[in-house]
Amino acid sequence: MKFFRITPAVCLCLTFLPLLLSAEALVVYSHRHYPSDDLLFAKFTEQTGIAVQVVKANAGELIERLRAEGENTPADILITADAGNLALAKAAGVLRPVQSEILTEAIPENYRDPDNTWFGFTLRARVMIYAKDRVSPDELSTYEDLADPKWRGRLLSRSSSHIYNQSLLASLIAANGEAAALEWARAVRRNMARPPQGNDRDQMRAVARGLADVAIVNTYYLGLLHHSPDARDREIAKQLRVFFPNQEGRGIHMNVSGGGVTRASSRPEQARQFLEFLVSEEAQNTFPLTTSEFPVVPGIPFSDLQQSWGEFTVDPLNLGTLGELNPSAVRLFNRSGWE
Ligand SMILES: [Fe+2]
Repeated sequence: MKFFRITPAVCLCLTFLPLLLSAEALVVYSHRHYPSDDLLFAKFTEQTGIAVQVVKANAGELIERLRAEGENTPADILITADAGNLALAKAAGVLRPVQSEILTEAIPENYRDPDNTWFGFTLRARVMIYAKDRVSPDELSTYEDLADPKWRGRLLSRSSSHIYNQSLLASLIAANGEAAALEWARAVRRNMARPPQGNDRDQMRAVARGLADVAIVNTYYLGLLHHSPDARDREIAKQLRVFFPNQEGRGIHMNVSGGGVTRASSRPEQARQFLEFLVSEEAQNTFPLTTSEFPVVPGIPFSDLQQSWGEFTVDPLNLGTLGELNPSAVRLFNRSGWE
């Protein structure tokens, strides 16, 4: 039996969920797991008088739940990480188009669905981190270069079953075609210091331990280690540096965390207001400082830590493409031997 977490601190079986959610509150199904989100949602309630209840689970479970609940879902909003997941939600028919000038003016076109069913509200750079005592940044250049035999036994990344790597491979398919993307996945897997295991933070910890020299990860995890209450994590962060690849070419692979209004929401106006709140200056200013994600709205300042990583250019690919190419990415990974 599956259990979902509900804030504040209630844990209950989903079977009874609709009975326990308030008829008045906006119900948010969220894949995000940051305490700072709860504080942000409380600010929305303070400003609008609209209560928010959050149900947390992973993206696959939430999308499946929305599909199963159909018209009876208590959920008004779906929030998840990665454009690949947002595209899956769109394809599952659980989101509705939202017309909002506030959203379309605030969010650059490539970070929202062309049909307005989902909108990014934070940006996440999937790039390289390296051990500063064993790698010179001159050795690094592009994602493509990680296929070079000079990296044999020196790379790490998580499993190919994770959407972050699937979306990265989708961006490589978009840039270089399927055949080149398959060769890349094979070669990068060959260059790994161990079979893929653990999450992005585990890859960084392993690099800091000397197991490998370079890992493909999302930068906000380095921020989370840097700001961790655990002194060992903070020590690990000090041994690592961020490298932004493909700066002479298309730029880095950028992804989003985002959300949309459910097809069956009974409060679509309030749900739209909630999404608009997430791109407000107040909300956007909190993300760099709390989760170390980049703001989606241009002009919002980066945190000091983010600025210390340096400037970078970004692949302008429309992130809807990552969803379209997800099945190809999964198929190529299965053929590549990258578990
Ligand atoms: Fe993440």
